[in-house]
Amino acid sequence: MIVTTKDLFKAAYGKYAIGAYNINNLEQCMGLFRGNIDSKAPFIIQISKGSRSYTNKLMLEGIIRSADKVFPEAVFAVHLDHGDEATCMDCIQSGFYSSVMIDASSESFDKNIEITKRVVDAAHAKGLVVEAELGQLGGVEEHVSVSEADAKLTDPAQAKEFVTRTGVDSLACAIGTSHGAFKFTGTQGLHFDVLAEIQRQLPNFPLVMHGSSSVPQEEVARINAAGGQIAGAKGVDDNQFAQAAKLGVTKINIDTDGRLVWCRVHREHFRDDPKDFDLRPAGKIFMTEYAKFIAAKNVKLGSAGQL
Ligand code: G3H
Ligand code: 13P
Ligand code: NA
Ligand code: ZN
Repeated sequence: MIVTTKDLFKAAYGKYAIGAYNINNLEQCMGLFRGNIDSKAPFIIQISKGSRSYTNKLMLEGIIRSADKVFPEAVFAVHLDHGDEATCMDCIQSGFYSSVMIDASSESFDKNIEITKRVVDAAHAKGLVVEAELGQLGGVEEHVSVSEADAKLTDPAQAKEFVTRTGVDSLACAIGTSHGAFKFTGTQGLHFDVLAEIQRQLPNFPLVMHGSSSVPQEEVARINAAGGQIAGAKGVDDNQFAQAAKLGVTKINIDTDGRLVWCRVHREHFRDDPKDFDLRPAGKIFMTEYAKFIAAKNVKLGSAGQL
């Protein structure tokens, strides 16, 4: 059942976080649904701009609509991840999405507000809710100096002004994470002090944590043992999710970890069975392994058992 993101947030706020998982294809979709059903968790399917153009946005929509029929017990929202204004508007008009993210965080504060407000107005007119972003995730770990790194984090007072002026429904905050498999190359970790201050400025307001893959070291080691070359990969400690949820983080974004599961399964399968060239055996293993990953992650998020 496709539900509104707002209802998922209302039930979760302050207690647990909803897992927001990116998908690109059928196998990810199957693993995602199975894992969430196995762990009795509500979830958010995230679709990026790149995912919409990987095959075709309607292909993805068709797969998800079918999954909704195949798995009637699933409770989920459909969300555009990191949209620009045009993509947000397309998703709002499509009638398929529960919510959109407008990411104008690389613009100036005022320009970010201006763009976000336009998307919020269009979305609210159609009954969708909007996530926006304030702060710079990607660059945080690229700087060695702590003061430079801190300058990229979300400013709590600005966050309050941003939410008030835009009318946005949730806010992605930069509190030390970054996208991809190489986080915390400096000394940074999660900045719970900043998060606590954002929550003080914005009580009962859903916050979002991007860049939250944990990049399991065992997964990385298996990939590298099977011919991969992703040395030095590092992620977020998912034992910190519960503390983040208490401080208002209601949605936690995870994409990279799923890619690592896919990579490990396929590398190991074709290493161990070099005569095989059928796509289904490895695809089947991936769906099972991805479902296991999702179910375990939902325990860390606290969303497991909430249905
Ligand atoms: O934050 C980005 C997500 O991991 C989606 O990645 O834009 O390559 O689909 P993508
Ligand atoms: P990861 O790269 O840590 O999985 O983050 C995904 C994300 O934030 C999607 O918006
Ligand atoms: Na940003
Ligand atoms: Zn993100």
